[in-house]
Amino acid sequence: MSSIKEPVVIHKGLDNVYVKESRICYIDGEASRLFYRGYSIEDLATHSTFEETAYLLMFGKLPTKSQLQDFLGKLERYRTLDPQLMQFITTFPSTCDAIDALRTAVSSMGLFDPNPATEDLHVRIDKALQILAKTPTIIAAFDRARNHKDPIAPRHGLSHAANFLYMLTGNEPDPYHAHVMDVALILHAEHEMNASTFACTVAASTLADMYSIITSGIAALRGSLHGGANEAALRTVQEVGDPSKAERYVTQALAERKRIMGFGHRVYKTWDPRYKILKQIGADLAVRSGQQKLFDTAIAIESSALKHLAGAPIFPNVDSYSGVVFHMLGITTDLFTPIFAMSRIAGWSAHSIEYLESNRLIRPKAYYIGPVGVQYIPIDERLT
Ligand code: CMC
Repeated sequence: MSSIKEPVVIHKGLDNVYVKESRICYIDGEASRLFYRGYSIEDLATHSTFEETAYLLMFGKLPTKSQLQDFLGKLERYRTLDPQLMQFITTFPSTCDAIDALRTAVSSMGLFDPNPATEDLHVRIDKALQILAKTPTIIAAFDRARNHKDPIAPRHGLSHAANFLYMLTGNEPDPYHAHVMDVALILHAEHEMNASTFACTVAASTLADMYSIITSGIAALRGSLHGGANEAALRTVQEVGDPSKAERYVTQALAERKRIMGFGHRVYKTWDPRYKILKQIGADLAVRSGQQKLFDTAIAIESSALKHLAGAPIFPNVDSYSGVVFHMLGITTDLFTPIFAMSRIAGWSAHSIEYLESNRLIRPKAYYIGPVGVQYIPIDERLT
């Protein structure tokens, strides 16, 4: 018996492996720059809205006024859930994690679409838009159902961000809170070939339907090394509880070889530009919401981690302050990753469609190091 051996390079983690050419997103991880379709994230966060940004990502250019009106009209029409789906969501266990509820609900959306599968890219984009529009409704409905509250229907005339906050609480949000949510959605909408986008691209390459593609993205986003890091980062800040305890926490965590959540990135070897924007928003929100201690604790953890990780290319990423910001908006912690997903659907859809424009099935290889030709032993004769 011999192992199959041939000289290969194993790309564990697929670092620096390119799977396609793309016009969607450019990250300069050395210079702390991020661009969606050529526009800097700073410009988009300052001048754009989530809806405009989603249009930019999905259709390749910023919309004209009339294109934006059409787009907003579609989102408004698509926000309402099929009554059966809404009913189904209310049966989810109240103990389940919101991201699992979202993954299951998006997967189930395909059951209520009489023609979920299509090869037509225009129809695919329309289905992606439906998922994008309905996701806030799903998250809000689940959150209300688990708190024994009736769902709230989306309200015409409110932005995507404001509508989400409205459906969560039943109150039209403070305009500043709606603005913060809008900026947060812009910042999370796209980030090149990250794990969840790659999961979507793999599913797309098999010609799976849009519901399956987006469900794959949510599943991959869920883990604490990716989208789940925002929840973990906030929990760290809450556990530390006071700026004076940050240094002790960081030294102990690093001594135990634990990771500081909200730090480090495969592509950024310097500051994540999204982190800077969210930190600034966090500073404003801390004053407005009277949660200065929480924010100061996050700052103290950051300072201590930067001091102890000095020399390593490990800097704060988007998740170091996003959880703190969502918390100061009054949002329940397990909704943070669903909010990330609700925004990233724009990027997932854009990449899936772009890949399908010149599709090739993604099928890498695993380098087999086990034996071959092992003799089969009937179960009664097996000693171990
Ligand atoms: N805290 C402490 N050490 C770290 C951290 C961290 N946050 N991140 C990486 N390292 C160390 C790691 O222990 C390893 O050390 P050594 O070589 O001594 O074993 C070294 O850096 C390289 O680690 P890696 O996992 O190979 O590096 P990577 O570039 O693949 O890591 C990462 C990327 C995001 C998985 C990692 O930085 C991490 O686990 N961060 C914490 C979780 C987090 O914040 N995730 C959100 C990422 S940004 C948003 C998103 O994409 O969803």
